[in-house]
Amino acid sequence: MSNSQTLNGAVIGYGFISGKGHIPAYLKRSQGDVRIVAVADICEARRALAAKALPEARIYSDYTSLLKAEAKNLDFVDIATPPCDHAKIAHAAFDEGLNVLCEKPLTTTLQEATALLDHAERAQCVLFPAHNYKHAPVVKAIREVIQSGKIGAVRSVTLNTFRNTHAKGVTEWNTHWRRHHQWSGGGIAMDHGSHSFYLTFDWLKEYPTAITAKMSNLEPTKYDTEDNFSAVLTFPHGLAHCHLTWTAGVRKVLYTIQGETGAITVDDDDMQIATQEKTAGDDVAQGAVRWNVEKKTISSDWMDASHVTWFNALFDQFKEAIATKDYVGKEALEAYRCIEIITRAYDSAKQNSLEMKLNGRKKT
Ligand SMILES: NC(=O)c1ccc[n+]([C@@H]2O[C@H](COP(=O)([O-])OP(=O)(O)OC[C@H]3O[C@@H](n4cnc5c(N)ncnc54)[C@H](O)[C@@H]3O)[C@@H](O)[C@H]2O)c1
Repeated sequence: MSNSQTLNGAVIGYGFISGKGHIPAYLKRSQGDVRIVAVADICEARRALAAKALPEARIYSDYTSLLKAEAKNLDFVDIATPPCDHAKIAHAAFDEGLNVLCEKPLTTTLQEATALLDHAERAQCVLFPAHNYKHAPVVKAIREVIQSGKIGAVRSVTLNTFRNTHAKGVTEWNTHWRRHHQWSGGGIAMDHGSHSFYLTFDWLKEYPTAITAKMSNLEPTKYDTEDNFSAVLTFPHGLAHCHLTWTAGVRKVLYTIQGETGAITVDDDDMQIATQEKTAGDDVAQGAVRWNVEKKTISSDWMDASHVTWFNALFDQFKEAIATKDYVGKEALEAYRCIEIITRAYDSAKQNSLEMKLNGRKKT
């Protein structure tokens, strides 16, 4: 670390999320507590754009040469390549004693996730996933309502993520990599599943024990990854239903959170909190129940897929993990669970939705 206030970082992969999300967010940090000193990208056109965005950074054509030349100047590596390379880049960073902020999904297989968490512990380096939906303003508002006790204990949730196309990468490289298993490791479940799954942990305040899933690929001659995914997660005291589609007619999230005494409904920025008015007893006829309904609009920039405005709260958490030497903390363990859920969901879908057990990380 150059001085106690500034963290020096390198970004691997200067594509959509780096160019529109991470780097603009780093540049906006008013504290000046982070400096991106190097960038690596395998695509020449992206390297040229990185040099423009960060004129003072040193630019490399691969992460190996970057680490060789820069490791001694660095505190962390920010991995923003397609998922197929996350694990090998993170291992290389840990070999140099560097902390890692890694885009979701952490890895494309459970074996890779296991090895990565083990390595982070051995190397005493922070492994931190970019679980940025936790920092969406409307998601923070959901957390506050649940914590206030207003809707009671949460017993079931539904998370619908509608997209009218698969998410696309930058045009200079390989725009449709998400639809090809070799780069993505899977389709919409691999790409977006983590966001839905870690939100269920947050809302139900426990971890799931089993999953059953179904998926389809509406363009099998063109692509080898799924574009529609539906799963039910069993929790010790509840259920979560997660539906993800890249073939919807609209782009939006629709979340519902059902508590014992009320419910939250979220449609992008619009939030409704319904609670039943207290009555003298349980013997109230159907239509006689009175509801309190509170409506709010919480601007959350859902349409901006870079989610640039959510990034710095996430980076603050990463910084805190570095400061407190929380090498494999709650976020990394939840990233592991997300990968376990995704891989077990694929197993389930292949076997006619057979229910699969979920265990979380078992130390090796
Ligand atoms: N958290 C979020 O909300 C969010 C949103 C979008 C993307 N992402 C994640 O960010 C990652 C990147 O996605 P994207 O949409 O930015 O993709 P992208 O295709 O736009 O960018 C990927 C970049 O990585 C480069 N690259 C590929 N392999 C590389 C390697 N081995 N070393 C160095 N550079 C390499 C490519 O040239 C390209 O510039 C993925 O893991 C994706 O899931 C997360």
